[in-house]
Amino acid sequence: MKVLLIGNGGREHAIAWKLTQSPRLKQLFIAPGNPGTAQCGTNAQIPVDDIDRLVAFAKDQRIDLAVIGPEDPLAAGIVDAFEAAGIKAFGPSGAAAQIEADKAFSKQIMRASSIPTAESRLFDNFEDAKAYIASRDEPVVIKATGLAKGKGVFVCDDPSDGILAAERILCEKIFGAAGAKILVEDKLLGQEVSILAFVDGRNIYVMESAQDHKPIGDNDTGDNTGGMGAYSPAPIVTDKLMDQIVREILVPTVDGLNRYGTPYRGVLYAGLMMTQGGPRVLEYNARFGDPETQPILMRLKSDLLEVLLAVCDGRLDEITLEWDPRPAVCVVMASQGYPGKYEKGKPITGIEQADQLPGVKVFHAGTDRIDGRVATSGGRVLGVTALGTTIAEAKANAYEAVGMIRYDGACFRRDIADKAIQNL
Ligand code: AMP
Ligand code: GLY
Repeated sequence: MKVLLIGNGGREHAIAWKLTQSPRLKQLFIAPGNPGTAQCGTNAQIPVDDIDRLVAFAKDQRIDLAVIGPEDPLAAGIVDAFEAAGIKAFGPSGAAAQIEADKAFSKQIMRASSIPTAESRLFDNFEDAKAYIASRDEPVVIKATGLAKGKGVFVCDDPSDGILAAERILCEKIFGAAGAKILVEDKLLGQEVSILAFVDGRNIYVMESAQDHKPIGDNDTGDNTGGMGAYSPAPIVTDKLMDQIVREILVPTVDGLNRYGTPYRGVLYAGLMMTQGGPRVLEYNARFGDPETQPILMRLKSDLLEVLLAVCDGRLDEITLEWDPRPAVCVVMASQGYPGKYEKGKPITGIEQADQLPGVKVFHAGTDRIDGRVATSGGRVLGVTALGTTIAEAKANAYEAVGMIRYDGACFRRDIADKAIQNL
């Protein structure tokens, strides 16, 4: 089987690494990939948003399955384009991917299906938004409804900050068309968890739980990032809670999308707040999470390629997922300055040595090969991931590996997985 994987982050290196373990894989291309994915297959220098070229490449190479990592091409309808060309593709249609790309649409689905989420109001006009926010005493969350690279959400404890955020999005248009509308949402309190499920249009197969670490600083301080680390499983998600999440959130979401005429296939990712009143949806993603995928796939024992094919063919009910019971922890190593401005091109040493530690895998994200050497090329550089018999041991193993990797301006959180350790 010939597979084309689209993307170039840590998530895609983890997917590529896992796909290479499948006896059914004959050839793997990654577009555009990174130096990590180059160890798993052949990188093809085509950007993720050049849908025409990606489809033409897949036709040329007689690709059997395209697997799409990031949200932008999904929302732009890349799966529809592959299918129109007669190529199987893993991921939702452009219409179904709006569950991530349009937060107003996802609220509509949630409302229609009584899915627990924060109360919210939608505005496309600053004066109305301002009057509404000013009329409230409680903290508010202001969200651009479109795709904003994970930066479109402002949690404002003071309503005056909420008004400022609304002004920046609606009047200054800091997110362009992605911020033509905003949601003003109640702030929810609790721990966040990421629940990812395979969905084939009808059947839902939930993966092991995970928790992300969005803020840049230890103890969840500072600006939000794409994610500074993750672990799986999240001990806060007991079996009973997982049943409740599937029953009250995942099943009605998939049913709601079907009723709306946009059946969902691919990975459905529910970002949840575990509030005192139970789990509430913060957002959906239409894809594997990054960095959650790194620890989740380290723990998956089943053949990922078989699972992806079963999703595409609508026969997820024939599949059983087997998991390594050992927890996994992923520590993201970033560039100094991220999520703001940062320098690139810093040579990295120690990846091979770290990779040789038992139970450790170093996933590349923002790396590049310059003059034959691996160097930094992005904000999130590496996802150092480790298994352990306990979550504390997985954490220790991951940080031991982190300690072996060096580059100028390396930054990382030192408290990844502490919440899980406290929850045990
Ligand atoms: P989203 O992209 O909607 O998940 O928002 C990004 C981050 O903002 C989430 O991971 C939360 O940390 C935070 N957030 C979003 N919505 C809320 C909410 N209603 N209450 C509290 N925090 C939120
Ligand atoms: N880790 C959050 C995301 O993938 O959007």
